[in-house]
Amino acid sequence: MFLKKIMRSASPLFRKLQKLLDRMSTVLLENITGVRVVRAFNKEAHEQNRLNTSFSGYADTSIKANRMFASLDGLSFFTVNVFVILVYSFSGFRVTAGAFAVADLAAIIEYAMLALFYLMMAQMVILTLPRAIECADRVRTVLGFSPTIQDLTKKKVWFPASPAHVVQFQNVAFRFADSEEYTLKNLSFSCRRGETTAIIGGTGSGKSTVASLILRFNDVTDGALLLNGIDLRKMPQEQLRDHIAYVQQRAWLFAGTIRENLQYSNPNASDEVLWHALEVAQAADFVRSLPDGLDAFVAQGGTNFSGGQKQRLSIARALVKRPDLYIFDDSFSALDFKTDAALRRELAKETGDAAVLIIAQRVSTIRHAQQIIVLHEGEPVGIGTHDELLTKCSVYREIYEFCNPS
Ligand SMILES: Nc1ncnc2c1ncn2[C@@H]1O[C@H](COP(=O)(O)OP(=O)(O)O)[C@@H](O)[C@H]1O
Ligand SMILES: [Mg+2]
Repeated sequence: MFLKKIMRSASPLFRKLQKLLDRMSTVLLENITGVRVVRAFNKEAHEQNRLNTSFSGYADTSIKANRMFASLDGLSFFTVNVFVILVYSFSGFRVTAGAFAVADLAAIIEYAMLALFYLMMAQMVILTLPRAIECADRVRTVLGFSPTIQDLTKKKVWFPASPAHVVQFQNVAFRFADSEEYTLKNLSFSCRRGETTAIIGGTGSGKSTVASLILRFNDVTDGALLLNGIDLRKMPQEQLRDHIAYVQQRAWLFAGTIRENLQYSNPNASDEVLWHALEVAQAADFVRSLPDGLDAFVAQGGTNFSGGQKQRLSIARALVKRPDLYIFDDSFSALDFKTDAALRRELAKETGDAAVLIIAQRVSTIRHAQQIIVLHEGEPVGIGTHDELLTKCSVYREIYEFCNPS
């Protein structure tokens, strides 16, 4: 009964302790990764307070839990001692009365100690059990989490040879699971082989979401999305992504060397191939100027390179892959106009009959695209070439005039 009561009161305490531990590591991690923001805003004292609060919360609860243990410890020692007194007094009389040998007394005490030792062990188990159950629960939650995007088939599908439409959006609408509003609506267009398709629109208009749908990081809510004429959900994710090279909005490099980063999609790519990709991505000059060249060190997240350098290296990494479809999500934004122009000129020669999807915010980056889709609050408000859109799409005209004030 008593033990049951202890277990019942220890469980919520440990749950709380675990939550406080989470809080402690979140605050600590935020402070370490965001240290420059903290300093720039002179928020050291505020953060110190936040740290102190979360640390002392954990300490207080730990002390409470340990007090509970300590009282239980006291109780078990008390029981042991009472037992010893009883044994001594009972057998003491018997020994003086001559009914009991000293050797018997020693044996009784030995047995009693053995029994008590296991009693203490049991107490330890009872004390650690609530914590272990709590931890096991969390492990179970993590292990029981199943990804929302599942392969319906592991078998590769057959693609027709060089179909004209690499990607087709058929009246696609998309809503994030935790959101009530649609992020994308009424989206119908194709990315054609050998052509550049561009998406332009303000921040938050849903451009990056379009890229994440093509890569099947999310599934469309309504409508259909096809690769080479086949619904994305009908092929394994691996096969889908084998056909796409994606340069994400926030360039990401892995710790290691430039060579390892460039060979990410093709470990056998020769130095010649890597240098060619760097030339096209306008990154060859700065890589050449590094003392170690291709073997130059890349820090975690690529923090030892500038934003523009990281972007160009991730473009080069995509070029090494030679896919059916290139997706550049705002990949030219950190480049100056001259580099942007040179890169696009070289890229056009390089991509050959692959389809190219460029997401951009500047008209200059995409004005030569064969097809431009203007997104506004998740809906296409214009599809056409630069000249067509200038005459018929007011949103496009606004973006254009903003980029080129007269
Ligand atoms: N994981 C997410 N969960 C819920 N809403 C999201 C998520 N990612 C983006 N959004 C929302 O979707 C909209 C479009 O985002 P995004 O496609 O990144 O825009 P863009 O790339 O055009 O700037 C935004 O309003 C944003 O708040
Ligand atoms: Mg974006």
